[in-house]
Amino acid sequence: MRILITGGSGFVGRLLCQRLHRDGHRLLVVSRTPDKARQHLPAGSDIRARVLDFSDESPEAIVNLAGEPIAGKRWGKAQKTRLVESRLTMTSELVTLCQRMPTPPGVVISGSAMGYYGDQGQNEVDEQTPPNDEFAHRLCAQWEAAAREAEHSGMRVALIRTGLVLDADGGALQKMLPPFKLGLGGRIGDGRQFMPWIHREDLVRIIEFLLERESLDGPFNASAPQPVTNAEFSRALAQHLNRPAMLPMPAPVLKLALGEMSRLLLTGADMRPRRLEGAGFTFNYPTLDEALTVILGR
Ligand SMILES: NC(=O)c1ccc[n+]([C@@H]2O[C@H](COP(=O)([O-])OP(=O)(O)OC[C@H]3O[C@@H](n4cnc5c(N)ncnc54)[C@H](OP(=O)(O)O)[C@@H]3O)[C@@H](O)[C@H]2O)c1
Repeated sequence: MRILITGGSGFVGRLLCQRLHRDGHRLLVVSRTPDKARQHLPAGSDIRARVLDFSDESPEAIVNLAGEPIAGKRWGKAQKTRLVESRLTMTSELVTLCQRMPTPPGVVISGSAMGYYGDQGQNEVDEQTPPNDEFAHRLCAQWEAAAREAEHSGMRVALIRTGLVLDADGGALQKMLPPFKLGLGGRIGDGRQFMPWIHREDLVRIIEFLLERESLDGPFNASAPQPVTNAEFSRALAQHLNRPAMLPMPAPVLKLALGEMSRLLLTGADMRPRRLEGAGFTFNYPTLDEALTVILGR
């Protein structure tokens, strides 16, 4: 298949592109800096700076992952606008591209996040759970709505509400490892907030699964079936590194340091992948212990 990918140079996109290339797909990748992206992408990838630069191609499927990093900078007003606009602009350009094509692609798999649900306390959360209205929810809801515009062109749209993506060479774990390796890690706040997580390989497998299964559309919780609380996550990570996890990060300190963005670490949702499991998807890494064993090699 010819597959158009935004965010192909990113932490998730890089592994996705490797797997799709290995399986014989042709990759059309949107990157703001094609020369830089080329270093991370399989040979032969067609990389262009804007979605509409691909008007002369006819992708058969789209995977939409691009967006300003959510935890990159404090959520001031300008940064919040960047977080939203980077995703909405990219997604609406994809919809425009599809509208211009005589035969639009069959499917769009578009990003979203656990933040869709906002703070859910100790509630178990599936795709039907009503969201808590806060910035993360509004960001994901707008991103999802923009992608769903493609449905008007007759396309199948699947939305991946993604948990914290874990692997060795990037993402949240790369930021957490240095303090934990020094024995300076610990729970955040009271540690009871849920941290839905997923091994990067399983997320890529989910995207491939959704590309293939023509009956599947709408939102899918893309996180392992056994989520953990922040305290459990901290304990497991410290154990795998043979270090103590004795230094909790008090919530007020984090709020002072990160402002509203501290909600990413202090709140969460006990998110379950109900629809994926119902559709027959099986996780290679259902438990955090299995994921950390392979990621940390111990
Ligand atoms: N990683 C996680 O734990 C996680 C969890 C939940 C949801 N997600 C979502 O899943 C998607 C993929 O995650 P990821 O970790 O692979 O993200 P990532 O590594 O930050 O990569 C996203 C890509 O988006 C592009 N990008 C960055 N800033 C942009 C901007 N201002 N405007 C347009 N494009 C921009 C970049 O591509 P170029 O520089 O090549 O243009 C980048 O490679 C993201 O949208 C993320 O929000 C990730």
